[in-house]
Amino acid sequence: MKKIQISPSILSADFSELGSEIKKLEESGADMIHVDVMDGHFVPNLTIGPPVIKSLRKFTNIPFDVHLMISPVHKYIKDFAEAGADIITIHPEATDNLNESINEIRKFNKKVGVSLNPDTDISVIENNLQDIDLVLIMSVYPGFGGQKFISNVIEKIKKLYEIKKKLNLNFDIEVDGGINFSNSETVINAGANILVSGTTIFKENNGNIKKNIELLKKY
Ligand code: DX5
Ligand code: ZN
Repeated sequence: MKKIQISPSILSADFSELGSEIKKLEESGADMIHVDVMDGHFVPNLTIGPPVIKSLRKFTNIPFDVHLMISPVHKYIKDFAEAGADIITIHPEATDNLNESINEIRKFNKKVGVSLNPDTDISVIENNLQDIDLVLIMSVYPGFGGQKFISNVIEKIKKLYEIKKKLNLNFDIEVDGGINFSNSETVINAGANILVSGTTIFKENNGNIKKNIELLKKY
């Protein structure tokens, strides 16, 4: 079983202090920083783009786990790679050719992630699993932090983990959306090894980030 890693989502951070918030996350034990990029088209919200990521790069050396909720995504991969992303995760619905977009991410020597929305079946990407480093399973409909965990996603995590074992593949299984202290153990036991969290990490226990990260990964 892989070591459990925590990727805090800065969508819940203080956007006026993103640099110091990122430093605080690293000092509090974050394994990577989950950066939610939204374009107001693929999802009904707008956040940040490559210039902001580029300006944040100097605040930490831990990986930027960049979740691109943008469409079309292919033509922007270069910009995010050059801005300092380490993992670039895209949604299959956001590209005309998933294989080409996977290759484009590889071209910049970045880790490749593919994200499945709650209604997107594993079959959409099963021919790509041997070419990717990470599957990001959405446990909310993307666009906002603070949403409720969709519990039927647990079965999808278990199914993906079975496929991973059967094919003897080594991709990470990351789960994103509504993760909290009461569902994290179930998510991990289903087969996830990376947990994304925004609200729980930044808001619980009076915003004690270090304690919240420890509580999420204590399994
Ligand atoms: C939602 C984002 C998630 C979200 C997680 O579209 O992809 O990363 O910010 O935030 P919480 O943990 O608050 O659900
Ligand atoms: Zn995300």
